[in-house]
Amino acid sequence: MNYMTGSVRQLAGLKALVTGASSGLGAHFAEVLGKAGAHVVMAARRRTLLEEQAWYLRGKAIDVEVVELDVTDGKAVEAAFVALGPIDILVNNAGMVRSASALKQTEADWDAVIDVNLKGMFLVAQAAARQMRAVGKGGTIINVASILGVRQGKGVLPYAVSKAGVIQMTKALALELARHAIRVNALAPGYLSTDLNREFFETEAGREMIRRIPQRRLGELGDLDGPLLLLASDASAYMTGSVIAVDGGHLVSDL
Ligand SMILES: NC(=O)c1ccc[n+]([C@@H]2O[C@H](COP(=O)([O-])OP(=O)(O)OC[C@H]3O[C@@H](n4cnc5c(N)ncnc54)[C@H](OP(=O)(O)O)[C@@H]3O)[C@@H](O)[C@H]2O)c1
Repeated sequence: MNYMTGSVRQLAGLKALVTGASSGLGAHFAEVLGKAGAHVVMAARRRTLLEEQAWYLRGKAIDVEVVELDVTDGKAVEAAFVALGPIDILVNNAGMVRSASALKQTEADWDAVIDVNLKGMFLVAQAAARQMRAVGKGGTIINVASILGVRQGKGVLPYAVSKAGVIQMTKALALELARHAIRVNALAPGYLSTDLNREFFETEAGREMIRRIPQRRLGELGDLDGPLLLLASDASAYMTGSVIAVDGGHLVSDL
């Protein structure tokens, strides 16, 4: 890959695919990569939301296209990559959570979370890696994990299991794909306020959790920009298999 680290448009000439780009982190990642010069493909199931996001980004002179995609559908994932053509950067971000105590999680909750967060992430990473290997230029894959893949929280058992799996998947892919010049790293955000968790942080338990974060605040979407651009660009040329926590110190909170 021949992008110039440090320049404002360090991703110019590159194509990035962001899954789960219809809201939250994914919509933000699309904007950050686009501002850095990448052509961005925004993928998710809700086409209307994607189109709205794309319209907003085009208004900021960002070069985007949208693709309606359910990451749990292997055939649809394969077809999407054929239609898209080669990509240089994958931000494997689509994810979901079902909150309930371990005793109340249902089989359907387990299946839904594991299907999207683990199977979906694998299917997309595998399709991207197959294509990158065939093209022969290498590439970079950024899997969005969570600090819940490392530590624990009540009420999110399948989610925590899925994110621990994402971290292991990142390392396994990094090991196998390094010889094809494909780097695979993970971002492990701490708690940021998005549609996924907004209601929780308005409860007393949510406010109490914020008090336990060493920096005593929730993350802002912008806190992820530097780590995202690091992993997307050749500033991280010698990084693969890494897991970067962006969490205000939450992982090192006082026991
Ligand atoms: N918010 C946080 O504090 C936080 C912390 C750590 C990690 N994360 C991770 O960050 C990622 C994004 O979460 P978020 O907070 O931005 O939540 P969000 O606003 O709910 O976004 C989730 C995205 O995933 C997409 N998605 C869900 N199921 C999908 C499927 N089957 N196929 C394709 N796309 C699918 C959704 O789009 P459609 O519904 O349109 O398909 C949506 O765009 C997740 O992996 C999450 O685990 C979030």
